[in-house]
Amino acid sequence: MQDNDYLCLIENDAPMGNVFRNFWLPACMAEEVEEDGPPVRTKMLGEDLVVFKDTMGQIGCLANECPHRGAPLHKARNEGCGLTCLYHGLKVNVDGDIVGMRSDTKNGRGFKTMKNYPAKEQDGFIWINMGDNPRNLYPANWTGGSIAIIKVKVPFNWATVIEASIDSSHSSTLHQSNLRKADKSAQTTSVDPYDGMWIRPDVDGAPRMKALEKPYGLVGAAFRNPANGDPDLDYIRTSIYMMPNMVNISPNDDYNITFMVMPIDNENTMFYWIAWQDDPKKNGITQEQWRRFTNAIPGETLNEEYEFYPIHWKQDREAMKNGDWTGYTGIPMQDFAVFPPGIRDRTRDQLIGSDVWISKWRRHMTQFAKKASKGSLPSDCSDLYSQIRGLEGNVPKDFDWTDPLISS
Ligand code: FES
Ligand SMILES: [Fe+2]
Repeated sequence: MQDNDYLCLIENDAPMGNVFRNFWLPACMAEEVEEDGPPVRTKMLGEDLVVFKDTMGQIGCLANECPHRGAPLHKARNEGCGLTCLYHGLKVNVDGDIVGMRSDTKNGRGFKTMKNYPAKEQDGFIWINMGDNPRNLYPANWTGGSIAIIKVKVPFNWATVIEASIDSSHSSTLHQSNLRKADKSAQTTSVDPYDGMWIRPDVDGAPRMKALEKPYGLVGAAFRNPANGDPDLDYIRTSIYMMPNMVNISPNDDYNITFMVMPIDNENTMFYWIAWQDDPKKNGITQEQWRRFTNAIPGETLNEEYEFYPIHWKQDREAMKNGDWTGYTGIPMQDFAVFPPGIRDRTRDQLIGSDVWISKWRRHMTQFAKKASKGSLPSDCSDLYSQIRGLEGNVPKDFDWTDPLISS
């Protein structure tokens, strides 16, 4: 098996897929499921699944395949504490038990319990546990306060999406049309109250990067020359990778920002981007504002499957002539426009100095998947995740960036 396969492949019994199975994983946003509402189709680590909330508010996650003759269960009726398959009326509850069957004289007796995974609702998501690690590691670092989420389905391998999330260097180039230069007195990034743009106290497109391994993943920092020209200061932005699928990037004055990816299969990924604030003294951002700023608006820019409508993949060359850098609207679309499709062959990459963080991540996770294939488990850092905070701002040159825990 090549190193790139250790890193990228997550289907069937792939080592990296088994790393993911140690953690609670996001099946969908909590807002997508309602009691006796339409079941939600999802695909995770190559497995087709259906998630639903029953009449009592219990959440179930089952294989999306009726055990009778394979009808998709996301089209089933959801009522009376279970899903009823439209085809012949098999009824299954949240535990996967077959509790009736309309067209069977034995009323479904004799069917085996369906494949099902433990599910729970927490912090804006429905989480499922697809593995047998009894510790059920819970990796979310946002808890309480305000939570705004976007969800987009994209045709890229999960590692490609994570790499962009930890790569601070591209923000100064790819996303430059969503950034505005702060005036010289600014020390941190503020948010324009009218258009949501980020007003950053730096103008440096070529950051120096550092990264360090941690029990929960890795922490990295990008150092830029500050806009105020002070030779004794650096403008710092951290990005913190939390195993297996989260990256907390630098906050701004209003809200914190965490990326979360969920591998659908080897070549497709569900991308979640969470803007959250648990400090009541700060503004936060509403769901509506966040979706509008990112241009990821269900029913408007995104279809029912949370994919961008094709028009958004069309590059606006006219806008580019008029000063827009990419011709794409919104930070997520700008990223998706430049990602290589499917699984990237990383042996073809010619890395530069600002890729230090990326190469460290690749090495770390490839090694981790190799060790996992021999039975090694991730450390239990469940207590640490909620204490992890990114930081940004102008700092002295000798600033210690290596510990992003709020208690430190
Ligand atoms: S396929 Fe579902 S009841 Fe027959
Ligand atoms: Fe980006």
